[in-house]
Amino acid sequence: MLKTQIISLSAREILDSRGNPTLEACAVVRRGAEEYAACASVPSGASTGEHEAHELRDGGERYGGKGVLRAVESVNGEISAALTGLDPTDQSRIDTVLRCLDGTANLSRLGANAVLGASLACARAAAMAHGLPLYRFLGGAAANRLPLPMMNILNGGVHAANLLDIQEFMIIPDGSGSFQDALRMGTEVYHALKRVLSARSLSTSVGDEGGFAPMVRTANEACALIVEAIGLAGYNAAPGSVTLALDAAASEWVSPEGGYVMPKSGKSMTARQLITYWKGLVSRFPIVSIEDGVGENDWESWTQLTASLGKQIMLVGDDLFVTDPARVMRGIELGAANAVLIKPNQIGTLSDVFEAVRAARRGGYRVIMSHRSGETEDNILADLAVAAGADFIKSGAPARAERTAKYNRLLAIENELQ
Ligand code: PGA
Ligand code: ZN
Repeated sequence: MLKTQIISLSAREILDSRGNPTLEACAVVRRGAEEYAACASVPSGASTGEHEAHELRDGGERYGGKGVLRAVESVNGEISAALTGLDPTDQSRIDTVLRCLDGTANLSRLGANAVLGASLACARAAAMAHGLPLYRFLGGAAANRLPLPMMNILNGGVHAANLLDIQEFMIIPDGSGSFQDALRMGTEVYHALKRVLSARSLSTSVGDEGGFAPMVRTANEACALIVEAIGLAGYNAAPGSVTLALDAAASEWVSPEGGYVMPKSGKSMTARQLITYWKGLVSRFPIVSIEDGVGENDWESWTQLTASLGKQIMLVGDDLFVTDPARVMRGIELGAANAVLIKPNQIGTLSDVFEAVRAARRGGYRVIMSHRSGETEDNILADLAVAAGADFIKSGAPARAERTAKYNRLLAIENELQ
């Protein structure tokens, strides 16, 4: 057996899709006499959950305080020193060393961005050294299934300068069996939506995740426009064809005085009224999934929401779970949500990502691999989705290269698997 060893790690500050700095880490490994180098970059969110791992930013004047040179220094210095000599195929050891080296629960000392960059770069370099695609290296022989795309085609909330309280209006194209067909269907609906908006003289400029951000006011209007677009594209707005999914990102709506205040309309609601509101929307539109329908600390409302809608639709915990296996297990115990959003930078290491996926599976929860609103052209998320056997992937609209990079990689993987 050839010995595989990490030679060094390094990092650089690059830009994400919002023009903010982010970290790219590179690993060099040696297997036998050959050296292999691979890099991976780290995304960044706008509606971040309170319980996420800590993204280290420099503060100060540079880039408005958003520089990541301290995180870059973590990788170039301490992290590289600690990982050099380790076996890059032993992901669990690498991630344990990273966690111990940081020494905090939320990776705030070295930065979760530094730690995740290192964790991902090692995995990529190890896969390369073994001549395997990353999804196969991480997922083994079982990594044969493509996720269904959940495509964000209409943006609101903090992702768009319009009047919609709900952050994401997504479509799930189904009824085809192949990723390629699902992607085509979703893209056709996206283009049809552009025509629907143009016909009403509504803006077709796009938000952070590539979805349109028209100046519409209500969720009813937004859903009706999407249903019309689905029809115009020649599909049925129904299960088996194209359905709707929402990400409310309602942690952003929690009022310090208790209850919820919609950020743009200013409407206030109790948790009970909010749950009734979701039931109403689900009864009017073919919505099959609602993400973060109530706040990240409101376990009780999560349980109530799940009791009232959980048999009918997917209730996805994003800010609620923050890809933390312990929070996922708590959710399962309490009957909160029935699906888990997986965002690697919420937790900080690849091992924890897969642990969160296993926890979700043990509870019978669905798994959705997800991008962040601030992304790079890195397509690693596609491989992670296939490796994890994710049911769905969120990578935004079929527009903007940082979004399509993941979809295009999935097309390539599907091709390879055939
Ligand atoms: P974020 O939002 O990446 O801006 O946090 C994405 C989401 O809430 O799913
Ligand atoms: Zn979300």
